[in-house]
Amino acid sequence: MTETAGDTTTAEGRRFPPPPELAAHANVGPEVYEEAARDRLGFWAEAARRLTWTQDWDEVLDWSNPPFAKWFVGGKLNVAYNCVDRHVEDGHGDQVAYHWEGEPGDTRTITYAQLKDEVCKAANALLELGVQAGDRVAIYLPMIPEAVISMLACARIGAVHMVVFGGFSADALASRITDAGAVLVITSDGGYRRGAPSALKPAVDDAVDRTEGVRNVIVVKRTGEEVAWNEGRDLWWDDVVERQSTEHEPESFDAEHPLYIMYTSGTTAKPKGILHTSGGYLTQVAYTHWATFDLKADDDVFWTAADVGWVTGHSYIVYGPLANRATSVMYEGTPETPHRGRWWEIVEKYGVTILYTAPTVIRTFMKWGEDIPAKFDLSSLRVLGSVGEPINPEAWLWYHEHIGGGRCPIVDTWWQTETGAHMITPLPGVTTLKPGSAQRPFPGISAKVVDDEGNELEKDATGLLVLTEPWPSMLRTIWGDDDRYVETYWSRFGTSVYFAGDGAKVDEDGDIWLLGRVDDVMNVSGHRISTTEVESSLVGHATVAEAAVVGASDPTTGQGIVAFVILRGNVTEEEASGDELVQRLRTHVAKDIGPIAKPRQIMVVQELPKTRSGKIMRRLLRDIAENRDLGDVTTLTDSSVMDMIKDKLPAAPSED
Ligand code: WTA
Repeated sequence: MTETAGDTTTAEGRRFPPPPELAAHANVGPEVYEEAARDRLGFWAEAARRLTWTQDWDEVLDWSNPPFAKWFVGGKLNVAYNCVDRHVEDGHGDQVAYHWEGEPGDTRTITYAQLKDEVCKAANALLELGVQAGDRVAIYLPMIPEAVISMLACARIGAVHMVVFGGFSADALASRITDAGAVLVITSDGGYRRGAPSALKPAVDDAVDRTEGVRNVIVVKRTGEEVAWNEGRDLWWDDVVERQSTEHEPESFDAEHPLYIMYTSGTTAKPKGILHTSGGYLTQVAYTHWATFDLKADDDVFWTAADVGWVTGHSYIVYGPLANRATSVMYEGTPETPHRGRWWEIVEKYGVTILYTAPTVIRTFMKWGEDIPAKFDLSSLRVLGSVGEPINPEAWLWYHEHIGGGRCPIVDTWWQTETGAHMITPLPGVTTLKPGSAQRPFPGISAKVVDDEGNELEKDATGLLVLTEPWPSMLRTIWGDDDRYVETYWSRFGTSVYFAGDGAKVDEDGDIWLLGRVDDVMNVSGHRISTTEVESSLVGHATVAEAAVVGASDPTTGQGIVAFVILRGNVTEEEASGDELVQRLRTHVAKDIGPIAKPRQIMVVQELPKTRSGKIMRRLLRDIAENRDLGDVTTLTDSSVMDMIKDKLPAAPSED
């Protein structure tokens, strides 16, 4: 278990102490770790007091029936009130909540006062349509303000939202509507992607036709494209929401009242409906957003460049930033539309100070070249964030230098849909950064790396990441399936240890390095090698822009390493086509990590298959590497990618 073939993750020796100016004024200092360790529940109780409660809790945590937790037992609050109304009451109604930027370049500026009116109107509309507390409402929208307004309107009346990412198919939407038992769907005619309108309503029509229980579909007009209409069921947002009163008295709900369901894929075909509740969730997203990003509500312009259809959007576009009265940027489109400098143009235009995104995007920008961001004024940036996958040191350093101007700390935040909020991350005013490591559990969080038997590993060992204490924003169950909840997360090491499904390593200082999903850890001749380590090595080579590595079953070694690489722009056609470069790369990895990590096969490709959220679909790559039939590929950003990759597939794997 503890054996690794080599070590690229810690090979990057550079260290980055916090900028003194930032450290001097940081929201939290080093003492926060000690305080939280001394009294973990007291620490979270204090974090909860940053919110406005209408009734105090009797008990911070009830863990008498693990793994079913109750946080802030007996406490009552309204989540939407905490995100919107209280800031208006405190005299901040004119502060901008969102600078929204549409892909075609249209913009909307929404202040807290305006947001309050919009949320109240939408809440009144839902009530008029008979939506009650506890009912599930599906939201299938592009990145437009109505997505946020709809989520908050649900929260306000105690309805449970279930946002489905707009890139998902009608099939995926239908199965989620059925599993959640949604009574209403909020969608739009479409949104803009890559310079053209992209329709959403047809998928909703298809999905609703195949399910039962949806009474109404509210349709936001975004593109103006023609839509099919189901009289009596379908309602234009403009007709049903706009005429409503801007007054709505928020009702208080129990701290454990369900807030939302977010589906996430597991190891089986059926997605899991992760359930989050109110008080604990809002406490941890708000506190982490404030501490991890050092958010200053009066000065910062915060931008999570992700989609609200994912947990990152829920926690760090909507709930965390709004609870903290942040001013955020929200962008509808893709980074290359209409040009590859679009993001940097947005940073310059709004003076973004904190940017939060995923390593895969950073590597894309690397591929496009540093001369693109160099054309824009990025001097407003002061903190950068990363989420979604391990960030290889190469990408970290590029992000640090070419986006952060060498002055911005990078917080590499490890967490999951299930954890709801940051769990392992550096703190920008405290931590001396190691490129590629998420470093320390957040204050009040207990994360450990254990071996297969659950024994804690320390100092330079590789194992499984577990969370050994409950945390406020933890998932409460899998919707409708308590057994699967226990089985998936809380059975491997007993009912009070959360199994995260990630491999991790602790280095000699006790810092944590995430090594990817454990199902992505390969076993080659009895040696455990992380796909991430091999990828990191490949991306460290001057010719490689992006790499994806999978373990393909191999009759001799158990698994063989197969790598798919995208080359950088500076590699000539001729170099790219020959075998010489591939051999050089194999040797490079062997040298970097150890001969055991030498890829059996390397394929040069133009694209990698990714989900809409930017995760590389390793299952598909593994299928290609093993020549298996491909399953459903509707969640790919571009399924023609697969054809291109298959075209590159040699008849037989190269031997030696
Ligand atoms: C991975 C996204 C390394 C990890 C918030 C986890 C990361 C999964 C990091 C959850 C990180 C996320 N370093 N790996 N900073 N952040 N992951 O549910 O494998 O979409 O289990 O949540 O992403 O993905 P999810």
